[in-house]
Amino acid sequence: MRTFLDYVRRYEPTQIVTISDEVPLDYTATAMAFELERRGSSPILHFERITNHDLSLLANVCASRDLLAKSINTQTENFYETFGTSLDNLIPAEMVSGGSVQEVVWEGSDVDLNKLPIPRHFAQDAGPYITAGMLAARDPDTGVGNLAYIRLQVKGSRRMGASLHSRQHTWDYMRRAELKKKDLPVAIVIGAHPAVMLAGAAKMDIDQDEYDLAGALLNQPLPICKARTVDVNIPANAEIVIEGHLLAGTHEPEGPFGEYTGYVTGRSTENVLEVSAITMRGDAIYVDIIPGNSTEHLVLGRIAKEAWVYKRMKEVLPFFVDFHYPSSGTHYHCYVRIDKSAEGQAKQAAQLLVALDHYVKLVIVVDKDIDPVDQESVLWALATRMQADKDVSILKDTLCNQLDPSSENGLGAKMLIDATKSSSFSAEKISIPENAKRLAESLLD
Ligand SMILES: Cc1cc2nc3c(=O)[nH]c(=O)nc-3n(C[C@H](O)[C@H](O)[C@H](O)COP(=O)(O)O)c2cc1C
Repeated sequence: MRTFLDYVRRYEPTQIVTISDEVPLDYTATAMAFELERRGSSPILHFERITNHDLSLLANVCASRDLLAKSINTQTENFYETFGTSLDNLIPAEMVSGGSVQEVVWEGSDVDLNKLPIPRHFAQDAGPYITAGMLAARDPDTGVGNLAYIRLQVKGSRRMGASLHSRQHTWDYMRRAELKKKDLPVAIVIGAHPAVMLAGAAKMDIDQDEYDLAGALLNQPLPICKARTVDVNIPANAEIVIEGHLLAGTHEPEGPFGEYTGYVTGRSTENVLEVSAITMRGDAIYVDIIPGNSTEHLVLGRIAKEAWVYKRMKEVLPFFVDFHYPSSGTHYHCYVRIDKSAEGQAKQAAQLLVALDHYVKLVIVVDKDIDPVDQESVLWALATRMQADKDVSILKDTLCNQLDPSSENGLGAKMLIDATKSSSFSAEKISIPENAKRLAESLLD
């Protein structure tokens, strides 16, 4: 992460704001990020001095698609392709003996989460939350490594609540560890190069390790080392690592917490993490992801997953052009553009999309003349090319993200809308002669 920060400070100085005044820990980063968003920007925020804490706090590292693209040496418009190529060309991580992340070691009675600047983010939160914690663990059956963001509520000097609500690999590891009546050894990685942060948010096969994707994104093996008290590998140059176990068969209230939906949620798998060690760099920076429906949370929650879904859509559907997830839909709405050559393709594209991404509950499929990023244009297609009795399909009782406040018991419905022109559609789009357009432009210039 240090090389990335140096790069931003040197070449993109407007993309990082340093706050040198001493500020209170709770709510400050969230309030600052949301206010800057209201004013139209989402820079990285570095709070150098936090009241009653030694470590500084860095937030909004992953809020900019442009910076994330640059961090993996590509441009925004090529992000999906670069990411997709990396998914096909993993570079195995390289084991090193010890790393800068173990320069400082807190074990035994030294372990104290309260010494880290872990903030409260929203008025309704149940407590301080680690939001940028990537949970590293190993498959209880195969030993393959996994990395995933999991929100963590600090409940004591060595106890945290965790929610595995997205029911992906960590959830499955835990389920299988519990079948064996075993705790799951884990390490929480805080602050790593954005390539690792992107890999942590990625969808991958269960037999693939996110560290190898980070290597592919970096175009060189990611240095990893062994955690000290658990059998889990960690990025050797991370800022901070918290080691411990997710306890089998143990559940305690966790939350409420302000989630990406923009609502407070008490929905949680209510797991418990007991900490055995905390290690960090000598000059560690604590990294926070602004939660709620902040730009950072929505960008990071989507960008890597989008790249995976995009790759699969391209592989399966020759007529798929591209898609866009509008921020207003949090992670639940997706506009898909196709180059339609036969009836039924819109529905096929929509069905594949919701199969690949179970968070999505509304898909609108448009023709190739409609830009999915331009919401007005999508809604115009909906208004003029769609008839609800024929073009709307509803799938009931499908797996959804449990944090959707309108869902019940982890089940929800999907609405698939075909807003493409049907074969009998005969209306012609209005157009203006090119020379008249040019004249208008010259008169206005
Ligand atoms: C910032 C952020 C926070 C997240 N918080 C959680 C969480 O608290 N619980 C959860 O189950 N998933 C959470 N997710 C989603 C998972 O991390 C994500 O689905 C990940 O790809 C799962 O990886 P896996 O399939 O390797 O387990 C979060 C994602 C992001 C980007």
